[in-house]
Amino acid sequence: MIASHPLIELRQLHRYFGRTKAVCDVSFSVRRGGVFGFIGPNGAGKTTSMRILATLDLPTSGDALVDGFSVLEDPDRVRRRLGFMPDYFDTQANILVAEYLDFFARSYGLLGRERQQALRRVMSFTKLDALAEKPIDGLSKGMKQRLCLGRAMIHDPPVLILDEPAAGLDPRARIQLREMIGQLAADGKSILVSSHILTELAEMCDSVAIIEQGRLLAVGTVEEIQRARHSQRNVHLTVLSGAEALPEWLAARGAIHDVKVEGQSVEFLHDGDQHVEADILRDLVQAGFRVVAFGSRAKSLEDVFMQVTEGLVQ
Ligand SMILES: Nc1ncnc2c1ncn2[C@@H]1O[C@H](COP(=O)(O)OP(=O)(O)O)[C@@H](O)[C@H]1O
Ligand SMILES: [Mg+2]
Repeated sequence: MIASHPLIELRQLHRYFGRTKAVCDVSFSVRRGGVFGFIGPNGAGKTTSMRILATLDLPTSGDALVDGFSVLEDPDRVRRRLGFMPDYFDTQANILVAEYLDFFARSYGLLGRERQQALRRVMSFTKLDALAEKPIDGLSKGMKQRLCLGRAMIHDPPVLILDEPAAGLDPRARIQLREMIGQLAADGKSILVSSHILTELAEMCDSVAIIEQGRLLAVGTVEEIQRARHSQRNVHLTVLSGAEALPEWLAARGAIHDVKVEGQSVEFLHDGDQHVEADILRDLVQAGFRVVAFGSRAKSLEDVFMQVTEGLVQ
């Protein structure tokens, strides 16, 4: 096996439930240390794909591989290499945080000192140390999410599959989650994380797949998807005086749209990259405009998402 194989790979994955094509010809891969966003509206097929990766369901056709091992041929090896965090917290028993994690550590065959070390590592990473002796029923949503993540990583797998981990979290818990995911990726874990809310993922993912009605609509780095969708960049600038002359000046350059003037501030869209913006700024100054502020941003992933998906649910 080649060392550089992707840690997660879907190969023409299909999963039908009767006539519902929950997953239809989905292929993508996640490299080591990558955070990959799986984005789509409810019912798009995210959970179904993730369950198959986690060996909790079987594909109708196609395959899913974890660290090079097929869920069809080597489910045991897949399970050992992967931690799955489902989109619900599934426990009836009201046991203590430490007992809960201890149970899962034992289920993964961790014994003695190895288990103690795993528990310490996970509780410290998820900041659950102080809650070790608390019953899990009394935990907040954010704490339960951390416990779920702790459970998914108790056997220190190289791959983590997180299904809608940010759902229902308050902003603070969401920031903590984002930090934890960033840290896991920096430690070399490969992470597949799903959401139906784009903004939750945009900042933490290097690559994304957009899925709708079981089909992939776009795959690539956030930048690639933005570029492929003819994304425009938005520039806003402020001058000390003479803003009223700017629409004409900008129009003469071409490839600039939607110029809006408000007082001495001007906003517009353009088709170029940041080099074009640097040129515009230089030319503005050379033309005698006294520029005091100049900023730009790429069209957000949210804009792209709205453009790509039609918001259909089957
Ligand atoms: N066990 C099942 N039986 C029948 N249909 C299912 C089953 N699981 C999922 N589906 C259907 O498959 C589609 C994809 O569901 P799911 O993977 O849960 O989407 P997502 O996680 O993106 O919201 C939906 O139309 C859903 O109703
Ligand atoms: Mg789901």
